Amino acid sequence: MNTIEACIFDLDGVIVDTAVYHYKAWKRLANELGFDFTEEDNEKLKGVSRMASLNLILGWGGVTKTDAEKEELATRKNDWYVDMINKMTPGEVLPGAKEFVELCKSDGIKTALGSASKNSMTILEKVDITHLFDVVIDGNKVSKAKPDPEVFLKGAEALGIEPQYCVVFEDAIAGIEAAKAGGMKAIGIGDPKVLHEADLVVSGLNEMTLDKL
Ligand code: G6P
Ligand code: MG
Repeated sequence: MNTIEACIFDLDGVIVDTAVYHYKAWKRLANELGFDFTEEDNEKLKGVSRMASLNLILGWGGVTKTDAEKEELATRKNDWYVDMINKMTPGEVLPGAKEFVELCKSDGIKTALGSASKNSMTILEKVDITHLFDVVIDGNKVSKAKPDPEVFLKGAEALGIEPQYCVVFEDAIAGIEAAKAGGMKAIGIGDPKVLHEADLVVSGLNEMTLDKL
């Protein structure tokens, strides 16, 4: 019997592919500081908060900055990132994502967004899917980053559903760990070798059906 009552979705890499915009903006910042980093390094930034990402990148470049300088650098990167996401269109929703969230809703399953991004609302509005989520918990509403389960627990609480009846969809290892730490099921979006802690891994929401929940 299907006991799942809520699906909680990460945003970047699950619903939309904004990783490329994050990468472009961080790369531009690193280049201005006189170094570069690879796309492989960029993978380590998935699901990682803005300031934690900056700290990793500065470490790769061997650059030390004060807290005030870091604030300025993070703002500079975010301004470039916001310029890019402001140009996003509904065509940038990942294949099958909209359809699967709609399918959940039509089956009476509650839906939430659980993302570290403080830009979540802008992205949802630009790609015109804000209405698909009963609850949105984003980076403005949490104090502890994934793998801490705070973002997903807050989502479950706002929906009024116990964690054991929730499934989290995540493309980041830290996100799968967060779901598990919160006592939820986790479905990985991506490579099963990378996301081996997940209960199930699919390549995208276009592969999902309700009986896989
Ligand atoms: C998501 C992305 C990360 C990003 C983080 C914060 O988790 O996967 O790459 O750093 O959100 O995003 P923000 O839009 O608040 O800078
Ligand atoms: Mg993600």
